[in-house]
Amino acid sequence: MSSRLFYDFYDIFFQDKNYSAEVDIILSLGKKFGPGFPGHILEIGCGTGNHTVELARKAVDVLAIDIDPSMTALAKNKIKQKKLKNVIVLEKKVEQLDLKKFDLAVAMFNVVTYIQHTNELLSFMKGVSSRLEPGGVFIFDSWNGVAAMKDPPKKKQIHMKRKGELIELEIIPRTSFINKKTKLSYNIKVTKGKLIKEDKFIISQKLWTPLQIGRSLKQAGLELLWSSPLLRPEQKATEKDWKIMFVAKKLF
Ligand SMILES: C[S@@+](CC[C@H](N)C(=O)[O-])C[C@H]1O[C@@H](n2cnc3c(N)ncnc32)[C@H](O)[C@@H]1O
Repeated sequence: MSSRLFYDFYDIFFQDKNYSAEVDIILSLGKKFGPGFPGHILEIGCGTGNHTVELARKAVDVLAIDIDPSMTALAKNKIKQKKLKNVIVLEKKVEQLDLKKFDLAVAMFNVVTYIQHTNELLSFMKGVSSRLEPGGVFIFDSWNGVAAMKDPPKKKQIHMKRKGELIELEIIPRTSFINKKTKLSYNIKVTKGKLIKEDKFIISQKLWTPLQIGRSLKQAGLELLWSSPLLRPEQKATEKDWKIMFVAKKLF
């Protein structure tokens, strides 16, 4: 669903997300589990390009892809403004890419959770696997469906001031245990004394369990090496961790 305000305010809504720390963790896990310094990186689901910028500053080159043209437009603009010459941004699915091989593939901030069906998850994992060098590493995060079903997300409200305007964001979740998914409705209002504009953006998050993710990796020829709570790479993920980071390796 397209909604302009969600895109316009994406970087403001997620301004507290520590992209730089996440990229440092990704690169250190890439070094630890992969074939060496991750020189050529494939980033899947780049969004507005916040991980992309940090990755490009630390790697040889980055191919960043996303299926949403509004996102790739924002990412391209950001890369241009930052004058980063070692990044290409494309509106594509991983399955549609040429068979160039990468040392490291990255899909951060719930990209996998956007995938709704088991056959699509497997196709995605196979797409990643076939674009990795043997021994190459895939690092991604996901909601942990087990934790989300035990303790489903709750309504959130965030208020921000920007250029004299008040931006009000209300995130309303609706979890279906039958369908194992949570629909997040981002209700956005901009006011300045009176209502100036409002919009709604809906994201459906699939509640994949770590077991389902592990199975799809295996079927795609990727070996799950490690899983940890997000931003705590030294700890082993448990059923209670809401967001999990996975490290998988392309088999030789
Ligand atoms: C929450 S955003 C995260 C964006 C960015 N990685 C960040 O951290 O800000 C998830 C992104 O994944 C993209 N996406 C979802 N499914 C995808 C797929 N199969 N292939 C590529 N991108 C996908 C969405 O369009 C969206 O931009």
